[in-house]
Amino acid sequence: MNPWDQRFAADDYVFGTEPAKALLKLETFLVPEGKTLVVADGEGRNSVYLASRGFDVTATDYSEVGLAKARRLAEERNVYVHYVVEDIFERDWSSEQYDNVVAVFIQFVPPSHMTKVLSGLATALKPNGTLLVHGYTPKQVEFGTGGPPNPEHLYTEAMLRDVYQHLDIRLCEAYEDMLDEGSGHSGKSALIDFVGIKKA
Ligand SMILES: C[S@@+](CC[C@H](N)C(=O)[O-])C[C@H]1O[C@@H](n2cnc3c(N)ncnc32)[C@H](O)[C@@H]1O
Repeated sequence: MNPWDQRFAADDYVFGTEPAKALLKLETFLVPEGKTLVVADGEGRNSVYLASRGFDVTATDYSEVGLAKARRLAEERNVYVHYVVEDIFERDWSSEQYDNVVAVFIQFVPPSHMTKVLSGLATALKPNGTLLVHGYTPKQVEFGTGGPPNPEHLYTEAMLRDVYQHLDIRLCEAYEDMLDEGSGHSGKSALIDFVGIKKA
């Protein structure tokens, strides 16, 4: 059993059943009702929300336990999401193209794989498609209210602007906010939002 299967084994939803606050804020950037890939979706809070808003959603995660809970949430909310058990490090990013790619708190990715994974997210976009990335900045290590303790797993504005220099960057902003997203993300947090559009 991988560590995330263990973490998700409890009955409650570690990150809650409501979408990330940032997704609610940034949803307007997404191609409406578009074909949408949500990576490392865990227990499904973000994919289920997007499906309820009319998006055609495929969501991936390597935790079978997490995705079982995601399927349950989708059933309860009466929406359909195509769930795929997949290790993000094994994904062929050019296998399929999407109108929207959404990556929320995927900060398990180590520095050695960071550029490949972040670039892959953009590779999976159709021309004019939207990439939305939400995560923590290194300052989050001081707050300790969620995310890994290793600052090298976290994002700075400069790093995202560099990796995504080929996109039309609509937003790249670090900020602090209070989160109340299950027991996993709770309290004052050092966050970063990124939105980029793939040039046609
Ligand atoms: C902090 S949780 C975030 C879950 C979800 N994005 C959310 O915001 O509720 C990180 C997620 O990454 C998943 N994950 C960790 N390593 C992974 C890997 N190698 N491939 C795919 N998913 C992975 C975990 O199973 C977990 O669901």
